[in-house]
Amino acid sequence: MDPVRNPYAPGAGQRPPELAGRDDELAAFDVLLERVSAGRPERSLMLTGLRGVGKTVLLNRLRSAAIARGFGTGKWEARPDQDIRRPLAGALHLAVREIAPRHRAPDRVDEVLSVLKAFGSRQPPGTPLRERWSPGIDVPVAVGRADSGDLEIDLVELLTDAASLASDVGSGVALFVDEVHDLGPDDVSALCAACHELSQLGAPLIVVGAGLPHLPAVLSAAKSYSERLFRFSRIDRLDRPAADLALRVPADREGVDFDPAALDALYAASGGYPYFVQAYGKLAWDVAPASPITAADVDVARPLAEAELGVGFFGSRYERATPAEREYMRAMADLAGDDGPVATAKIAVELGRKPASLSPARDGLIKKGLIYSAERGSIGFTVPHFGRYLRGQAE
Ligand SMILES: Nc1ncnc2c1ncn2[C@@H]1O[C@H](COP(=O)(O)OP(=O)(O)O)[C@@H](O)[C@H]1O
Ligand SMILES: [Mg+2]
Repeated sequence: MDPVRNPYAPGAGQRPPELAGRDDELAAFDVLLERVSAGRPERSLMLTGLRGVGKTVLLNRLRSAAIARGFGTGKWEARPDQDIRRPLAGALHLAVREIAPRHRAPDRVDEVLSVLKAFGSRQPPGTPLRERWSPGIDVPVAVGRADSGDLEIDLVELLTDAASLASDVGSGVALFVDEVHDLGPDDVSALCAACHELSQLGAPLIVVGAGLPHLPAVLSAAKSYSERLFRFSRIDRLDRPAADLALRVPADREGVDFDPAALDALYAASGGYPYFVQAYGKLAWDVAPASPITAADVDVARPLAEAELGVGFFGSRYERATPAEREYMRAMADLAGDDGPVATAKIAVELGRKPASLSPARDGLIKKGLIYSAERGSIGFTVPHFGRYLRGQAE
């Protein structure tokens, strides 16, 4: 059918034509926003899950909900080896700008901006000039607030000031951070401590993060009380009714339908993983000669979609691995029948190596975000169906 009218949107962070199966998360977030702006105690929120389950898209949607409630918001994506100060200052700057027009005291806004400038300009020693923060904030830099160089102290001061600005206008601040597992340990620790302090003060500021399934372990390694500080929400594949909605609602808008057997075949292929729902849906639409899309159309589309995923979703990640890391992942794939986590001890046996000698490959893969350490000495692929893809390669 007409590819121009194809509604499906496979791609990292691509807004889906229908955000299916997330009603509970959206409803819970509305309650959270309401409570925060009323000054009631609330925990910050962390979304966790594998790649392609829709964390980024949900994070963006939650941000829209916060904006609609009058919150000041900002967002950044954490990167390995990047200091938190600059991106956080940038995100908070946006949040303050959203609140400022509603604030009655411009002086107070300027004061907070000058503290923000002080925080952001305080760079770690040796930061190259081109990486310095130049925010275009037209006020003098504050002295003696958020500029101690101790990240935890500075964060508490800065976030308290921003939150009080929001509370003056009866709302709050929500900071959104994607790929939280990539924050450095010192930054995680300071961020947790600041959230802890702010929640004790009843300040209307929350952090909403998203990250891989091992995020709770990353946070609790930094601060043992993090389990009580955050509410973790596991974002998972869509169940059958939600996956069907994700396909049918956008098609229906274009006057296109699916045969029930086509939906069966699409769910079998996608396993309900949102990225795959979009990818298979897109190809099924393209190959179908007319509505309704049939199981036979899906049969034709499936290898085409798999070839595309093999290059893009899987291939681009596989390319990042060194030969030793690829060997490690292939051993994982052979052991992980259902693509669930595998005991690291078994991988060593499979490869006939001492466990310690495999640590560099394992650590490299974790750093590259291809695998994550799950519970009890086991590891899993961060990418769903990755084991299946690798086994297919080997044939
Ligand atoms: N609830 C959903 N319903 C339908 N499609 C979705 C849903 N969530 C995400 N998607 C689609 O899945 C893909 C991956 O989403 P993304 O947010 O990038 O995942 P993640 O950040 O978890 O890796 C995108 O193409 C997006 O359009
Ligand atoms: Mg993402």
